[in-house]
Amino acid sequence: MEIIKVNNYEEMSKTAAEYIIRKVRQFPEATFGLATGSTPVGTYKRLIEDHRENGTSYKKVATFNLDEYIGLSGENPQSYRYFMDSQLFNHLDIRKENTFVPSGSAEDLAGECRNYESKLKNHGGIDLQILGIGNNGHIGFNEPGTSFLSKTHIVDLADSTIKANARFFNTIEEVPTQAITMGIATIMQSREILLLASGEAKADAIGQLLGNGVNEQFPASVLRNHPNVKVIADKAALSASKVRV
Ligand code: PGA
Repeated sequence: MEIIKVNNYEEMSKTAAEYIIRKVRQFPEATFGLATGSTPVGTYKRLIEDHRENGTSYKKVATFNLDEYIGLSGENPQSYRYFMDSQLFNHLDIRKENTFVPSGSAEDLAGECRNYESKLKNHGGIDLQILGIGNNGHIGFNEPGTSFLSKTHIVDLADSTIKANARFFNTIEEVPTQAITMGIATIMQSREILLLASGEAKADAIGQLLGNGVNEQFPASVLRNHPNVKVIADKAALSASKVRV
């Protein structure tokens, strides 16, 4: 795992965006794995700016998002489909039909999980996966205890995740309690992974990630077994880590 230490959120976003832009220029047909949440918003802003200013094209790019709340349709402003459209896709020249987010309102949710896996396979898998990290070590919505062998599946969200995500909703009762998420095995099949972390709230999680153990109680620790992971973290996120970077 390579650790790229940066000063703050802005620098994290700039570093990640530059990395992604370089990838798109080199491989215009790349498939990206994308994340929602507060962490990648600054990165997405910079991709949009670069697209406007320098014309980097996403016409041939495909994207697969990590997860989606169950019970919310893509028109719901709290859904991750809506988030991706408004924060990124609507502002690039990407073809909407090449942007994939699991459907949380599908009638057959188990079928939706299987379909998502096959679509991903048909696209040749993910070239570069962007990840955030939960305070409890989750990646996607793979909460502590998720099997490292898991594929796209339905999850019950941990109480800590519901509390953390309540900031996006009017009341905590509105936060969905279930989601569809790519599994750990799905994420691990990505050819390359960029994990982003900013702020003191992530310091414990990053400390554990960069510690020694690999175990299912701390899902992100599986990344230590992946051959091509870069962690772009700011000073605050690295403040509880013992490693020298
Ligand atoms: P955040 O979420 O980017 O909003 O902190 C990260 C995550 O829970 O994976």
